[in-house]
Amino acid sequence: MKKQLIALVFALLPLSVMGAGGANIHLDDFTPDLSDKASLQNGMRLFIDNCMGCHSAQYQRYERAADDLEMDKEMVVKEMIKGDQKIGEHMTIAMDPKDASNWFGAPPPDLTLEARLRGPDWVYTYLRSFYVDSERPWGVNNKVFPDVGMPNVLATMQGVQVCKGENCEELELKSAGTMSPEEFDKAMYDLTNFMAYMAEPSKMVSGTIGTYVLIFLAILFVFAYFLKKEYWRDVYSGSWRKDH
Ligand code: HEC
Repeated sequence: MKKQLIALVFALLPLSVMGAGGANIHLDDFTPDLSDKASLQNGMRLFIDNCMGCHSAQYQRYERAADDLEMDKEMVVKEMIKGDQKIGEHMTIAMDPKDASNWFGAPPPDLTLEARLRGPDWVYTYLRSFYVDSERPWGVNNKVFPDVGMPNVLATMQGVQVCKGENCEELELKSAGTMSPEEFDKAMYDLTNFMAYMAEPSKMVSGTIGTYVLIFLAILFVFAYFLKKEYWRDVYSGSWRKDH
């Protein structure tokens, strides 16, 4: 029920948001599962280890993530937070956007709300759509985001993909990475799931509130039912007449 609700919410997000690649790019379906804490925790690790070299998540606090994803705070401080940041701080990085623009041609945008801006389908497909293109500065291009300024930081895990077909209809794994294709897809699922959580942290709370509301309604229903029975017993027995 909760899963379907979340799926529905994402399905109703602005459909107009298209990738920079235009409208004809096929996007793989992605259904976030904010109840899968193990997936979200793994996604947060992947995000910190692979993405925060360049991207911040400046609206997300470590501590809030630790609470929401049910992680031990000491563990988060010891194993996750890099440098001298405190757990109460936002997930910012030290890179100067101006330097970044010079290096990459475009600054790596903040990713807190990315999954809401582009949609989780887009993010999930984008992360798995880098391919070799010797004409690009980093030697890679992306099917979902043509001429992207981002190097493929995931190549060690995924391996190297090349184009198949005249117009790059499909991508093919040319050499393997440290992960099997299934493992890599699962890792990107977790990473996208975490980004979906960051973009909509209140979904997690409203999920819980929704459950309480349903429990409350169920209890209210039982009371209302017995109350109704109580009233109508008097009506049936005619006892109300005697009172008047
Ligand atoms: C070496 C630096 C670097 C790292 C590490 C990096 N990125 Fe990027 N990323 C960039 C740059 C630069 C851009 C901007 C590309 C452009 O606009 O052409 C970008 C763009 C993106 C975009 C598209 C933003 C948009 O315009 O909507 C997404 C999504 C993204 N990165 C996700 C990630 C994720 C997830 C990771 C971790 C797995 C990651 N990036 C790691 C440099 C990096």
